[in-house]
Amino acid sequence: MEIIKRLRRLRKTETLRKIFSETKLSISDLIMPYFVVEGKNIKEPIKSMPGIFRYSIDNLLNEIEDIYNLGIFAILLFGVPEKKDDSGKNAYDKNGIVQKAVKIIKKEIQDIIIITDVCLCSYTNHGHCGILSSTSNFQSSVSPVIDNDATLEILSEIALSHAESGADIVAPSSMMDGQVKIIRETLDKNGFFDVIIMSYSAKYASNFYGPFREAANSFPKFGDRKSYQINYHNLKEALREVEQDINEGADIVMVKPALAYLDVIMMVKEKFNIPVVAYNVSGEYSMIKAASEKEYLDEKNVVLEILTSIKRAGADLIITYWAKEIAKWLKE
Ligand code: PBG
Repeated sequence: MEIIKRLRRLRKTETLRKIFSETKLSISDLIMPYFVVEGKNIKEPIKSMPGIFRYSIDNLLNEIEDIYNLGIFAILLFGVPEKKDDSGKNAYDKNGIVQKAVKIIKKEIQDIIIITDVCLCSYTNHGHCGILSSTSNFQSSVSPVIDNDATLEILSEIALSHAESGADIVAPSSMMDGQVKIIRETLDKNGFFDVIIMSYSAKYASNFYGPFREAANSFPKFGDRKSYQINYHNLKEALREVEQDINEGADIVMVKPALAYLDVIMMVKEKFNIPVVAYNVSGEYSMIKAASEKEYLDEKNVVLEILTSIKRAGADLIITYWAKEIAKWLKE
C-alpha cells in the first residue's frame, strides 16, 4: 500500500506556515498613487474611492511624509489641472500642477522616488490620451481617430518638463506607438540620462478604470480608448507591446490592471528579464471597498490576499491605492 503524502505537515502551525511562505509582501514593494490639484489646504474626497483624496501640494507633502515614514519609497503623481484644451498644452507647462508639485516634493522630501504619469487624458477637453486627427468627429460616438505621431511630440515635451522639475521616473501611459523611443531620445538629448522610463506597456482597455476617471476628471467625452489600449481578449499582443517597449528603451514595464490580468503578469515576468510593475487599479480598489463597507468581507485580509497574489504572479512592485493602509497592517 502506498503511503499518504502528508503535505499538511508544513501547514500545521502559524510559525511553520510563516517560514514556508514562498511569497512575502513587503512595504517597499508598494507604490502609492496621488492626485494633485491647484490651491491650498485641499483634501477633496473622491466619491467612488472611499479613503482616497485629491490633495493640494501643501497637504500632499504631509501625506508623503507619512507614507515615507511608514516605509513606502515611491509615489506616482497624477495632475488634475484646471485648464484643458484640445492638445493638452497644460501638461507640459513649466508651472503646471505636476511640475510644481515635483519641484516642491523634491525640495522637502529628497529621498522619495517620484514617478510621474505622462499622458494627455486629464489635460485634453475631449478626454482622450492623444491628439485627435482632423478627421475625428467630436460629436460621434465611435472611437476617435488619434494622431499617433503628433501625440508623440507632446508626450516627449511632457516627459522632458517632468524630468526638468526633478522626476526620477517618467511613466508614459497613453499607449501611443513609439512613445518610449521618443521619450528616451528626448531625455538623452537634454542630458537626462539617469531619468528612468517605466512604461505602461501592457495597458488594457479595461472596464476597471471608472473611479480613476472620476478622480482625474479624465472621462473620454465621446467614444472609448479601444483603438489605443489593448483588447482584453489578448495575451500575445500584450507580450508584443512589452517586447517593443523594451527594445525602445524602457527600464521597467507595467501590466495594468492587475487582478484580472495575473496571467499577463506571469508571462511577462517569465519571458523578459526586466522589472515588472503591476497596477492594482481604481476599480479593483472600489470593488473591495464597496463590499467591505457592507461587511461582506474583511478588507484587510482580502487586500493582503490580493496583493500577495499579484506578487506571486511575478510583480516586483505594485501600484496600489491601499499602499498606506497595507504599510500600517504589515507593521502590526
Ligand atoms: C490613462 C490612465 C488610466 C489610468 C491611469 N492613467 C486609464 C484610463 O483612464 O484609460 C487608470 C488607473 C486606475 O484606474 O487606477 N492615462
